[in-house]
Amino acid sequence: MKRVTRRVSSVISLKLHSRMDRILLAIFLTAWTCSASPPNFVLLFADDLGFGDLGSYGHPSSLTPNLDRLAAGGLRFTDFYCSSPVCSPSRASLLTGRYQTRSGVYPGVLYPSSIGGLPLNETTIAEVLKPLGYATAVVGKWHLGFGSKGMYLPTNQGFDHYLGIPYSHDMGPCQNLTCFPPDIKCLGTCDVDVVTVPLIHNEVIIQQPANFLDLERAYSDFATNFITTSATKKQPFFLYYPSHHTHFPQYAGPDAAGKSLRGPFGDALLELDNTIGKIMTTLEKTGAINNTLVLFTSDNGPELMRMSRGGNAGLLKCGKSTTYEGGMREPAIAFWPGTICPGVTHEMASTLDVLPTITRLAGAKLPKVMLDGVDMTEILVHRGKSQRETMMFYPANPSEKYGLFALRFGKYKAHFYTRGASHSSTTPDQDCSVFAGLKAHDPPLIFDLEADPSEHYPLSLEGQPELQAVLERIKKVKEQFEASMVFGESQMSKGTDRGLEPCCNPDCSPKPDCCHC
Ligand SMILES: *[C@@H]1O[C@H](CO)[C@@H](O)[C@H](O)[C@H]1NC(C)=O
Ligand SMILES: *[C@@H]1O[C@H](CO)[C@@H](O)[C@H](O)[C@H]1NC(C)=O
Repeated sequence: MKRVTRRVSSVISLKLHSRMDRILLAIFLTAWTCSASPPNFVLLFADDLGFGDLGSYGHPSSLTPNLDRLAAGGLRFTDFYCSSPVCSPSRASLLTGRYQTRSGVYPGVLYPSSIGGLPLNETTIAEVLKPLGYATAVVGKWHLGFGSKGMYLPTNQGFDHYLGIPYSHDMGPCQNLTCFPPDIKCLGTCDVDVVTVPLIHNEVIIQQPANFLDLERAYSDFATNFITTSATKKQPFFLYYPSHHTHFPQYAGPDAAGKSLRGPFGDALLELDNTIGKIMTTLEKTGAINNTLVLFTSDNGPELMRMSRGGNAGLLKCGKSTTYEGGMREPAIAFWPGTICPGVTHEMASTLDVLPTITRLAGAKLPKVMLDGVDMTEILVHRGKSQRETMMFYPANPSEKYGLFALRFGKYKAHFYTRGASHSSTTPDQDCSVFAGLKAHDPPLIFDLEADPSEHYPLSLEGQPELQAVLERIKKVKEQFEASMVFGESQMSKGTDRGLEPCCNPDCSPKPDCCHC
């Protein structure tokens, strides 16, 4: 298989035309699927990390030696999108390859007492891989539902093992959160009248409240153990690590607190980076490294309202909860020594494309549902063209009434509606603020994202017949897409039930304080 890889890469350097490339790719994949061990997958998912937060994306003071190593030795994307500017919907799309509107994980996010969750009849990446004998595990922030008796936990969605907090770590009274120096309170607006956040192993609460100072150690031990066990058994594996970092409030254990140049945010990011380093070391030690695709990205843009303790969208406009670029364009890195050549790609790709790509690389079967993702293997394996021509932008609260807020088609992005958000307030740009209410644009605001990635200068349609034609095309694509969109029943509108909040001591009273073990 190594020989095949080398032969393919030397042929690529001859720049054969795309048909030939496709044939070679087919040969390559056939050789692969016939080889003894299908590839492993490690999916690293940061939280509220912006386009400008990593050193490899231009941040001057972030400390991320391990992510820098992945970026230097892997493929770095400049035009990679998540599917929603907020958390739960974005995660639903990552794991299913479908817009959140189809699965019903909208509007907004799930809460500890939410009745709904990612519907169990949706097919996750883990469920795609299980029939091929993969070992599957998730460690960290699930945020796709807890529900009655934990019915929406990952162990019911194709994952063999789970260790983590099932939602955001500010969805509880913020206990045990520490920064450096310890007398600086990390506390922001955590939710107070809720159970403290539980640490769950598979379906069982093993700690409540979770001990944040020790959490990252527990996570990296779990990940190390999972990789080592799978590699020893020669079982292919899929590890999904959705980190709590760098969601507010920032925290970090002793190995990272006070160790970055960037204050509490930098320390939290460094702690995430440390864990990624441990995962990479384990992949090397077990000999799995050359047969493992490692993907890194983030769920949505930075929470700018936290100011220097939130993330940074770099040169992109606005952040979390908006459909400007800063809300949904994310850092993304694909690393696979010997198979993915180091470099940078400007091809358009999305979290939606992860499921189809993993399915292809593993030789698995695609779920028989309407998918929104496309296979990005050609981009990864020989820097080919993206099959993705468009990216759809739904707001945090999508509705059939308004439909898409924006649509990217090639290098052009058209905004049909814009709106600021509290999550993106406090920046000098007034368009990002919560006071920038819903605004319809007819004709839409159009930007050339190659010439103007910051969405500063809307293009004038006057006397521009070519641009007029592009706009007509965009409208047509939008119409076709929206005709194909069947909104799934909203999981969030099923409401909440305080009795569902995870409690390690279910019959105790008075709640929520007695849920303490
Ligand atoms: C899941 O079940 C719901 C309710 O029956 C249905 O509306 C939806 O289409 C199903 N989704 C899939 C992916 O089969
Ligand atoms: C991975 O491949 C590289 C380059 O071929 C080789 O030097 C290294 O030893 C391999 N690592 C393992 C663990 O097989």
